[in-house]
Amino acid sequence: MISAIEERRSVRQYTDRPVPRELVQQVLQAGILAPSAGNRQPWKFLVLGEKAKTELLAAMQRGLQQELDDPMLGDSAQTVQNARHTLSIMQAAPVLVLIHYPAGRPLTEPLDAAGRVREICDMQSIGAAIENMALQATALGLGSLWIGHTFWAHRALQAWLGRPGELCAVLALGWPAKNSPPRPRKDFDDVVEWLD
Ligand SMILES: Cc1cc2nc3c(=O)[nH]c(=O)nc-3n(C[C@H](O)[C@H](O)[C@H](O)COP(=O)(O)O)c2cc1C
Repeated sequence: MISAIEERRSVRQYTDRPVPRELVQQVLQAGILAPSAGNRQPWKFLVLGEKAKTELLAAMQRGLQQELDDPMLGDSAQTVQNARHTLSIMQAAPVLVLIHYPAGRPLTEPLDAAGRVREICDMQSIGAAIENMALQATALGLGSLWIGHTFWAHRALQAWLGRPGELCAVLALGWPAKNSPPRPRKDFDDVVEWLD
């Protein structure tokens, strides 16, 4: 097994040690090398500076409250609680990379079958890019956290971003403050079927 695959963990506590820009560039380069449907490379990676980070965190806070007051994602109160915890992790993370999907249609807009297939393929491509970045971070000794809780603050984050497309995820990066144990995985035989 490739060692970064075995060693990668979701890291939720980081030290204050800054991450050199050159290492962030190496992580982003790993994302750029990911495969993508039709070689569309349907991603943009937005690396946040201090001002942008402060604004994003404030927008996420507003968006989570909006989701509680006027839910867009159904019965979301418990997830908003979890998302508030993720927000505190983001606050303490030295580097935040937004993963943006410029061709993305608004979440609430219906899609026909062809549109769904295109979006599903683009999301697989973006997932490959995020995983490449997480693995490269591990190989450099960095920790990372793949964050999807931003969806529970989607409206405020989209308004803050102010550009067409959809925010799909955030990748937090930093030096791990402690070793995280591996999280359990389903048994091999529960997820693998060999078809004759
Ligand atoms: C699409 C996606 C979204 C995720 N969103 C969050 C999140 O918002 N907050 C969080 O703490 N972890 C998040 N995670 C991390 C998962 O909880 C984690 O990958 C899983 O529990 C397995 O643990 P491991 O990554 O250490 O192997 C996310 C992971 C993925 C792939």
